[in-house]
Amino acid sequence: PSIVVLISGSGSNLQALVDNQGSDYKISHVISNKKAAYGLERAAKASIPTSIHNIVPYKKRHPDDVSAARADFDKELAQKIKELKPDLVVCAGWMHILSSECLRPLREAGIPLINLHPALPGAFDGAHAIDRAYDAFQKGEITKTGCMIHWVIEEVDRGEPLLIKEIEMKKEESLDDLEARIHSVEHVAIVEGTKMALAHRA
Ligand code: GRF
Repeated sequence: PSIVVLISGSGSNLQALVDNQGSDYKISHVISNKKAAYGLERAAKASIPTSIHNIVPYKKRHPDDVSAARADFDKELAQKIKELKPDLVVCAGWMHILSSECLRPLREAGIPLINLHPALPGAFDGAHAIDRAYDAFQKGEITKTGCMIHWVIEEVDRGEPLLIKEIEMKKEESLDDLEARIHSVEHVAIVEGTKMALAHRA
C-alpha cells in the first residue's frame, strides 16, 4: 500500500513514517504547503518525491477573495493527490484546514485521510493545542493530555479517532519537556495509526 504524507514543518512525524516503511506501507510522495519545511529535506534524504502546494499563487489569482483562493488551493490539492493514487493520505504536522473542496473529491475517489492532533478528542481542537493544554494544566483544569490519530472530516480535528494515546501531566514540568514527551508519543502514534487506517480499508 502507498501513502501520501502532507506536512508543513519540521516533519519529525514524517521521519517516523519514513523510518518504519515496510510491507505495511511505502511513502510514495510528500506534499508540503511550505517551501521551507525541513520535512522536505527528510523526504529527499529518503529518496521520496516531494512537491510544494503553497497558497501564494492562489492568493495572486484571487487577490480580493481569500475564500476563493483557498477553494482553488483545496481543489487542486485534491487533484494532485488523486493523480498519485495513494491508498491513504496522512496529515502529519499539516497546518492547513482542508475544506470539502478537497475532502469531497477525495471521498468520491475512495481516498481516506487521517490526521495527527496533539490533544485528546474534543479537548483542544485547532492550533497551539499543546500550549493550551499546558495552560489548562497550570490552572488545574486538566490532569492529562495526549495525542490522537483521527479520520479527517470537514470539522477541524473532530473526525472519529482511530487511536488515542493519553499522557499524564506532571507538576513542575516545563512546556518544552511536555512538548518533547508528546512528540515522542506522536512518533509512535503516527505509525500505528497509519497501519490501522490501512488495515481498516482492506
Ligand atoms: C506536531 O505536534 C503535530 O501534531 C502538529 O505539528 C507538530 C509538528 O509536527 N500538527 P512535525 O514535527 O512537523 O511532524
